[in-house]
Amino acid sequence: MKQRAMGIEFIIDGLVKNGFAVLPQFLKQHEVNALAQVMQERKNLFHQAGIGRNACHAVLEQIRGDEICWIEPTDPLAATALAQLAELKYALNSQLYLGLDELECHFAIYPVGSFYKRHLDQHRGEDTRVVTIVLYLNPAWQAHDGGELRLYLGEEQYMDIAPVGGSLVVFLSNQFEHEVLVSKRERLSLTGWFRRRLI
Ligand code: OGA
Ligand code: MN
Repeated sequence: MKQRAMGIEFIIDGLVKNGFAVLPQFLKQHEVNALAQVMQERKNLFHQAGIGRNACHAVLEQIRGDEICWIEPTDPLAATALAQLAELKYALNSQLYLGLDELECHFAIYPVGSFYKRHLDQHRGEDTRVVTIVLYLNPAWQAHDGGELRLYLGEEQYMDIAPVGGSLVVFLSNQFEHEVLVSKRERLSLTGWFRRRLI
């Protein structure tokens, strides 16, 4: 079986058994570098991330300190990663019947010292986000760089995942509270949500 097909099977297996999966090397090193480069070139397009939508939207740096830039589905410079994520979506729909529609995604930069407190990836009164994906774009991440994704498996039980370049974290959006621990180095990712069709 091809490496990529094996990766997708590994993710599906993890989702079925545990509700989440962490796949190292979803992207190759040169693909990670290319996307990190695109992010650096767009740095002036990033804006402070908020919490909630519309009237609830507020920038609360005590809760999250990342800066984001939305990615259009047709973005030519993100095409390789988007195509691979579309393959994943296809597999999730055909094997798990999740009925996923579009991928809503953005680049995120966590400046030195920033974090994102414990939360669930759903806007109040809205449950169209079904599967969360986080693809890390940090070459040579070291343990002392911090910035781990802390995924809560129970109230007090958790797992820490280092944002190592090329690795992909996938989890069911409404099942796992999570947080980003203080990052001691600039931390880059492509974060997104496969949404369910609104019927
Ligand atoms: C988010 C988020 C996790 C990460 O953007 O909602 O939780 O590891 N990101 O970047
Ligand atoms: Mn989140």
